[in-house]
Amino acid sequence: MKIGILSSGGDCPGINATIRGVGKTAITQYGMEVVGIHGGFSGLLNRDVELLDENSLSGILNMGGTILGTSREKGFREMLTSVDHEKSNLITEAYQEIGLDCLVCIGGNGTQKTTNLLAEHGMNVIGLPKTIDNDIWGTDETFGFDTAVNIATDAIDRLHSTACSHKRVMLVEVMGHHAGWIALHAGMAGGADVILLPELGFDEQKVYDAILRRAHKGKPHSIVVIAEGLKLPDKTHAIDYLTDKIEEKTGIETRKTVLGYIQRGGTPSPYDRNLATRFGGYATELIANRQYGRMVCMRNGKIGSIPLKEVAGKLKLVTPDNDLLVQGKRMGVSFGI
Ligand code: F6P
Repeated sequence: MKIGILSSGGDCPGINATIRGVGKTAITQYGMEVVGIHGGFSGLLNRDVELLDENSLSGILNMGGTILGTSREKGFREMLTSVDHEKSNLITEAYQEIGLDCLVCIGGNGTQKTTNLLAEHGMNVIGLPKTIDNDIWGTDETFGFDTAVNIATDAIDRLHSTACSHKRVMLVEVMGHHAGWIALHAGMAGGADVILLPELGFDEQKVYDAILRRAHKGKPHSIVVIAEGLKLPDKTHAIDYLTDKIEEKTGIETRKTVLGYIQRGGTPSPYDRNLATRFGGYATELIANRQYGRMVCMRNGKIGSIPLKEVAGKLKLVTPDNDLLVQGKRMGVSFGI
């Protein structure tokens, strides 16, 4: 069999570990031929491919980014949904011309949606859930999330120094797109005093009250973790609005830090390396058993798979009954609500 593999969407720690997991297992266990497709879905259209062998898959386990390159490709998805069949046929033609028996697509929500469309066009595909945001429906975990939480937690730990020494309120914005998973997990692990999530919204007075309550108890410094997806109706990021407002309303000097791309760069955590390896290996099992049109997933600690059509177009968000959130509230962390 000849299988193709590509990465699409934002880069994320663990993509290379996944490519290695798929590639080495496919070659060693099943004698499959493995083709790497460069730069995401456009590489498929342009036939921009390379044959991957054990040598090219060696030494990449701990590397950040993706050796295949990636891109965000809304245009490609539009081609697949276009009423002009000539456009979508170009993709099927490329798949056939490269001689693929299956295409493995590593990516986040957008990628799973596109991969499902490829399946609907008759291609054999497998999706692999990658994102630091942890927001893919149908899987408890995505690789990249653990690394991002580690990085964000380390940043929060470091911000505590300035907060305590200068008696300041330190605001930190973490990534997550529309979801608050990184903010919740890093905020709790970093001992944040206030954690604000897009899923919950916020009442600004509650935020000032939480900070003032601490100040009255002799703790004038506070750490506020804010998910990037939390925005005001005019789309202003909550962190930009709250930095000045907190200082004005509490009288405590306030500073902000936006972590940004630091969270998804660099070497994956050991947990993510192993998760990526397990996901990748399982993908080859699905291919060998010709179980196509599915996304590899993790549920209740077990690796399995779910039909892509059940995943496409949905988001996994933090819910108010999340046990970490509930425990945070019970111990006095403010969620601004
Ligand atoms: O999906 C991962 C992510 O890093 C989000 O957390 C963030 O909102 C987005 O990608 C940024 O994407 P881009 O690379 O397009 O700037």
